[in-house]
Amino acid sequence: MAVSTGHAHWSSRWTFLLAAVGSAVGLGNIWKFPYEAGQGGGGAFVLIYLAFVFLIGTPVLIAELSLGRRGQLSPVGSMREIAKAEGRSSWWQLVGWSGVIGAFIVISFYSVIGGWTLGYFFQAMGGFSGYDAAISGENFQSFISDPLLPLLTHAVFMAITVFIVARGVQKGLEKAVTTLMPALFVILVILVIYAGVAGNFSATIDFLFSPNFENLTPRRVVEALGLAFFSLSLALGSIMTYGSYLDRSINVTRSAITISAADSAVALMSGLAIFPIVFAFEGLAANQGPGLVFVTLPIAFGQMPLGVVFGTLFFGLLLVAAITSAISLLEPSVAYVEETGALSRRNAAILIGGGAFLLGILTAYSQGDSFLSDVRLFGFDLFGLKDYLTNNIMMPVAGMFTALFVGWFVARKSMLAELAMSVRAFRIWYFLVRFAAPVAILFVFLGLLFGDDF
Ligand code: PHE
Repeated sequence: MAVSTGHAHWSSRWTFLLAAVGSAVGLGNIWKFPYEAGQGGGGAFVLIYLAFVFLIGTPVLIAELSLGRRGQLSPVGSMREIAKAEGRSSWWQLVGWSGVIGAFIVISFYSVIGGWTLGYFFQAMGGFSGYDAAISGENFQSFISDPLLPLLTHAVFMAITVFIVARGVQKGLEKAVTTLMPALFVILVILVIYAGVAGNFSATIDFLFSPNFENLTPRRVVEALGLAFFSLSLALGSIMTYGSYLDRSINVTRSAITISAADSAVALMSGLAIFPIVFAFEGLAANQGPGLVFVTLPIAFGQMPLGVVFGTLFFGLLLVAAITSAISLLEPSVAYVEETGALSRRNAAILIGGGAFLLGILTAYSQGDSFLSDVRLFGFDLFGLKDYLTNNIMMPVAGMFTALFVGWFVARKSMLAELAMSVRAFRIWYFLVRFAAPVAILFVFLGLLFGDDF
């Protein structure tokens, strides 16, 4: 039974699914997945990643959606009320706080990369002709070191996100995803077909689907679970908040499986769009890291027929994917502030978005050779610090406590009633959230903390 009611709802199962898939599909799938798969040696990484998505991520996704739907409040409110209803400590609301604050930190830097994407979208329209590795690297460096461009694009990206969130669930979020998600899908299909025709498709299939476990170090395994969580939008309150806009007629389990399947399909399709191009050009390396999308692909777009069109489509795709994720990162804190009654949704979105913009300035100016690029805190630059704090500490801890909460601290029969699964499916899910997920996350958490040693 829902512990409270009263705030906005999705207008249909379909719009909810689009929004949730929109949250999940983002820079994580199109920017991070390909380069991490590239560094992890391809097929083996992909296999482990998919196993984590379905065995660990999806059960936690089910947990978060059901907590949000039962609580019908922001992550803070939902965790507080459900803990109360179950006779548990009010400390559990810290899981909600971790999500709300973590999402606020993540949106502050996500928007900076969203801004780079916006910048590249415009660059792509002008074409990248004559780009070789040196020119392309130089172009990226000078873009991120520029005193104005990263700030301006960060501001525009954040403003778009605030505009959508301020309009609310049905007029803002739903409207945005119902136009953007089909566009994203169409562009992705076009790009895969193009890469199949113009690029080296067979090398790609070989690379992505024939597992070679030699390159799969423990560090890559840890990375794969981190990426599975990030890519499914877990442990930052986004999915819990989206769950709170659901009503009880929706089957949470089936929705979670649909979301995970769509998210994985997009990650794989991004691989199928990017690697054929990488393999078709001499001197481009699949394992070259975070610059894969911003440094490597422009070289290819500069040389291929119709490169202007397909380059623009590609960065447009990345932009759309980033926007639909960014709104889900801003939504948890806006939902929280709105629920306290302190501010209207519109003002909350403007104020919080403005705050995240300011915090993001630190990220923007910590890159390239901008003036904050030499600042180190605990050995990290200001971008790395936020990334480490959220991705390596807050997300695993919140994810583990979410699994522990539903597995051990909420009555089994409450969960059974909430999830409406067959007894057999419930048993599998229950085992995964009680044991598999906490243990795997703990392992990864320790691995991430001491990551440099292996
Ligand atoms: N899932 C998004 C991506 O892949 C990022 C994200 C994480 C969004 C957590 C919301 C919450 O880019």
